Amino acid sequence: MSEIVDLEAYGADFAADPYPYYAKMRAQGPVHHARLPNGMEVRLVVGHEAVRSALNDSRLNKDWRAAGLTREVDESALFHHMLDMDPPHHTRLRKLVAREFTARRVEALRPRVQQITDELLDAMAAAPDGRADLVEALAFPLPITVICELLGVPSMEREAFRAWSNELVAPTGEEAAQEAVKAMTAYLVELIDIKRGTPGDDLLSALVRTSDEDGDRLSRDELVGMAFLLLVAGHETTVNLLSNGMRALLSHPTQLAALRADGSLLDNAVEEMLRYDGPVETATWRFASEPIDIGGSRIPAGSAVVLVLASASRDPEQFAAADDFDIRRETRGHVAFGHGIHFCLGAPLARLEARIAIRALLDRFPGLALDADPNALDWRHGMLIRGPLHLPIRWS
Ligand code: HEM
Repeated sequence: MSEIVDLEAYGADFAADPYPYYAKMRAQGPVHHARLPNGMEVRLVVGHEAVRSALNDSRLNKDWRAAGLTREVDESALFHHMLDMDPPHHTRLRKLVAREFTARRVEALRPRVQQITDELLDAMAAAPDGRADLVEALAFPLPITVICELLGVPSMEREAFRAWSNELVAPTGEEAAQEAVKAMTAYLVELIDIKRGTPGDDLLSALVRTSDEDGDRLSRDELVGMAFLLLVAGHETTVNLLSNGMRALLSHPTQLAALRADGSLLDNAVEEMLRYDGPVETATWRFASEPIDIGGSRIPAGSAVVLVLASASRDPEQFAAADDFDIRRETRGHVAFGHGIHFCLGAPLARLEARIAIRALLDRFPGLALDADPNALDWRHGMLIRGPLHLPIRWS
């Protein structure tokens, strides 16, 4: 491992296009000692093989409390969720919701996802100048509507929810983040009380019932944490699959034409969008419970380890011509949804939404094109979620 990589020094170029930086790091080795913009030092894992095996390594813990760490907002129930837990707690919580997210259960949502997509595209098509921001018109409202309907969150609160959620995954400051934690916790506690009093035909009511009928299987804090995780993971990510994916497709005319000519390429095109520029740049943090070797580097016990999924999915050792966007390539082995016991629970839902949305967009707008330089967009803060704030498009 060479000297400490200072990510702050990379500046705004790194947020806009981190791939050349990761390529440089990969060329020097799969693991680096890095300093994040907030001053924290972490081990950054950038090679495909090292990332994939680390995602499956039970000596890397997710529970930062077990690693002896604290964080400013650690008392909030929001963070008592399975993505911050290790077995056996993780196993128990995941089992409680896993049956709701199987490919078969998710397939039943197809007609409603199609309907929401069609309504959003009707509204978009009505723009008199034939222009829109794809993020506002489709990429944000589709996944948030789907996950809110699934969980039973009233539509009125979705804008406030979006603001808190954005703040939590990409904080603009300590105080704003704490405010968002407070507001989100209070909101979810109240929502769960409402579901308890007047249950609906939704997932949150079902989860409340599970805890009521089965002793203390899901505590109040666990319900809050579960609702938080599903709502945030359910929309912060898919938004950016749609916007990063359409940015890639619309800036590669040959690929766009190939997909228009042969609709059977769609499923693989979505996998390539996930591989080429996926929404989750780095996995959530892990902590070494003992000294371990990753990719030939010794990681001391207690170190924070950040696995860079975006870099792993562009590793030429795994994918030939990895920087090319090619909707026909073999995409197997991409880690956009993670790997191992925390593999994304919502992958079938995300794939369903993306396939429906992209097919509908292409069918409905034959002249669809970017309305901005794809290399001059504003990007979201932080290294967790990658996506443009806006994606201007036009059609004729
Ligand atoms: C394109 C969209 C999505 C991407 C790229 C994505 C990516 C990921 C990744 C990388 C992880 C693992 C993180 C880690 O190991 O640190 C994860 C976990 C998770 N995702 Fe997704 N996700 C997406 C959509 C969704 C949706 C729609 C849901 C909705 C329900 C969801 C729910 C979850 C949950 C609950 C976990 C935690 C699983 C566990 O800890 O066992 N995700 N996701």
